[in-house]
Amino acid sequence: MNFKRTLLITGGAGFIGSHVVRLFVNKYPDYKIVNIDKLTYAGNLANLTDIERKANYEFVKGDICDSGFVQSLFAKLNFDGVIHLAAESHVDRSIANPMEFVTTNVIGTVTLLNAAKENWKTIPSNNKIFYHVSTDEVYGALGETGMFTEQTKYDPHSPYSASKASSDHFVRAYHDTYQLPTVISNCSNNYGSYHFPEKLIPLAINNIKNNKPVPVYGKGENVRDWLFVEDHACAIDLIFHKGKTGETYNIGGNNEWKNIDLINLLCKIMDKKLARPDGESAKLITFVKDRAGHDLRYAIDSSKLQNELGWQPSLQFEEGLEKTVDWYLANQTWLQNVTSGSYQKYYEEQYTKR
Ligand code: NAD
Ligand code: DAU
Repeated sequence: MNFKRTLLITGGAGFIGSHVVRLFVNKYPDYKIVNIDKLTYAGNLANLTDIERKANYEFVKGDICDSGFVQSLFAKLNFDGVIHLAAESHVDRSIANPMEFVTTNVIGTVTLLNAAKENWKTIPSNNKIFYHVSTDEVYGALGETGMFTEQTKYDPHSPYSASKASSDHFVRAYHDTYQLPTVISNCSNNYGSYHFPEKLIPLAINNIKNNKPVPVYGKGENVRDWLFVEDHACAIDLIFHKGKTGETYNIGGNNEWKNIDLINLLCKIMDKKLARPDGESAKLITFVKDRAGHDLRYAIDSSKLQNELGWQPSLQFEEGLEKTVDWYLANQTWLQNVTSGSYQKYYEEQYTKR
């Protein structure tokens, strides 16, 4: 079959990447979607079982830091666009092991930029775009008031956010120096299905279900702006197709929650779903040592994306959180496979069967 466009999505076996791959494969049957993923601990092909046999989808196991592999894939498949999500994404892991973050997030991104630059020498003669998916954490931390806009100065505090800030700078440098057609988005905290259970919301759901302590860092006063992951995927679709080259778009839910308030809400939902007496799950809340360099507050102003491209989040937080809890309770096998580590065998089993 001849496809209208061939797109590379990196990190498509991860949390957000799997939602982006699913959206593009289903919505654009005339696009060929190639998903490159190294399948680190965070990559799970079981996130994509519903679309893995579609004619317009291909999975390639590979490392974005491997320049030979990346260059040869670009030469072979002639990508018309890239949506780059592959990254080390967990702040706590970046505090424990910063080098992996420098390698994947900085060197991996520059390796992809180089391949696109080399392969797209005819730029800007056609419709190519290198879309880099980034985070609000590059802007640093807010006090009690204010919001991050696209003009906010970068001020990253964790090795994770410093590596993402660096990768954003490289993307802009390739745009300005080599006229590579790029676009960047910086999004707030996502939640939803297929979220790896070391991050706050899925970790808390899993622990509450299993009557284990729910660790809340410090006093639980830190504020995050939560967005339903499928709304992020829709924003990426819109920016990929309608965003202006060289621009940055902030994406956020306009939905700020103190961690402790969020966990209390989650406990109430879990009491209802598990038919426990009111207040039972909240007894599991355990205040633990704070994260080093813990940013106090994030809040995203996404008015540029809303006004220029017409994006709006679709779900209220309470509705999205309840939907997320329902998904985790209905997908206990997925969760058990992830927590036991057996999901990492899925690749070998599925791909040797073929
Ligand atoms: P994730 O950790 O769930 O998934 C990352 C994926 O990248 C995994 O499938 C992993 O196997 C893959 N990967 C890692 N190193 C690789 C390498 N060297 N080569 C190829 N693949 C590799 O991450 P996520 O939460 O889905 O985040 C995706 C992107 O969105 C990241 O760039 C992250 O910075 C950004 N982001 C995340 C959030 C959030 O709330 N999770 C918010 C804003 C932005
Ligand atoms: O803001 C966007 C970022 O959101 C993304 O760029 C990151 O990839 C993503 O992991 C996420 O980072 P956070 O550090 O905000 O997410 P996390 O789920 O790790 O933590 C959310 C908040 O909850 C944060 O203030 C730390 C706190 N926390 C986290 C964990 C895992 C706890 O209190 N207890 C916990 O056990």
